[in-house]
Amino acid sequence: MDLPIGGRPHLFLAPMAGVTNTVFRRLCKDLGADVLTTEFVSAEGILHRNERTSRYLEFQPDERPLGVQLFGADPDRLAEAAKAVIDWVAPDFIDLNFGCPVNKVVSRNGGSALLKDCPLLASVARSVVAAAAGLPVTAKIRIGWDSRSVNATETARILEGEGISRLAVHGRTKEQGYSGEADWDVITDVVQAVQIPVIGNGDIDSAAVALARWSQSGVDGIMIGRAAMNHPWIFREIRAAFADQGSDIVTLADKWAFIEGHCAKEIEWWKGQEAQAMKSMRARLMAYTRGLPGGARLRERLQRVETLDGLRQIGSDHIAENAA
Ligand SMILES: Cc1cc2nc3c(=O)[nH]c(=O)nc-3n(C[C@H](O)[C@H](O)[C@H](O)COP(=O)(O)O)c2cc1C
Repeated sequence: MDLPIGGRPHLFLAPMAGVTNTVFRRLCKDLGADVLTTEFVSAEGILHRNERTSRYLEFQPDERPLGVQLFGADPDRLAEAAKAVIDWVAPDFIDLNFGCPVNKVVSRNGGSALLKDCPLLASVARSVVAAAAGLPVTAKIRIGWDSRSVNATETARILEGEGISRLAVHGRTKEQGYSGEADWDVITDVVQAVQIPVIGNGDIDSAAVALARWSQSGVDGIMIGRAAMNHPWIFREIRAAFADQGSDIVTLADKWAFIEGHCAKEIEWWKGQEAQAMKSMRARLMAYTRGLPGGARLRERLQRVETLDGLRQIGSDHIAENAA
């Protein structure tokens, strides 16, 4: 996969279930994300071609390079799912999820459970790489199951040996969930342990942090999750910082124009079903209010918004209240 090189790390939007659908991914791409991935999709969902799965897999040509992230535990089923999804939507790469900490996934030996079973992890990678028949297969891991079993360098070497072509490392253990801090020292160890490109992930929430983590670790790319969900302009800000151009300030009016645009595109994606689309946007709207003035009152109004017009009203009131 050819990616632009230009003295800066590639910027990856982290896969986030319920967040990174085609609408949000395109918005992030417009703001400077280089590489996009679907949220995790179950191998079984693909093999059963269920309706929800086909929504997860929707993407537009301008999202390329686009990866489909798969999760599962059975090497044969994952290989079949990889073949099926390549025929179905022709992604640019397949990404394997070895990091999900959610019980429903882990209890079936998927996601981060595979970090505890290196032979199975190797077998999953091997089967999917063979099934993908030359299409790149990448992986996303956590640094280990718990603080007593941090094994990211071992996992990375195994995955490299099985033909994984790029590795994203979230610097937390499964046990940590999203608490504590991402351990970028371990990410740095992984960079030194393998030849394949390593993408660092965890707690990048500003251009300054991105610059510091990149120079500390030598990662080839930086993956951003929650900060992009709250403030997608972070991609533009990081690009500007690496180009040594001071970042332009995002005004309150810019933010509201963006939020309205996001809602309008979501309604389009829901084929005009405004109420459903606005309901699906609720958690996104809450995320956008982080850091905005008068956040508590704003959230209270946004909890109840059901139409795009209603949202526009809230936006214009908020801009007027904070003009001065
Ligand atoms: C709401 C949410 C959903 C997520 N869903 C996925 C997922 O589907 N696949 C995955 O590999 N990671 C998933 N993650 C983890 C993120 O990709 C990322 O590794 C994590 O948030 C750490 O990065 P950050 O500190 O930049 O947020 C999810 C995280 C969040 C907050």
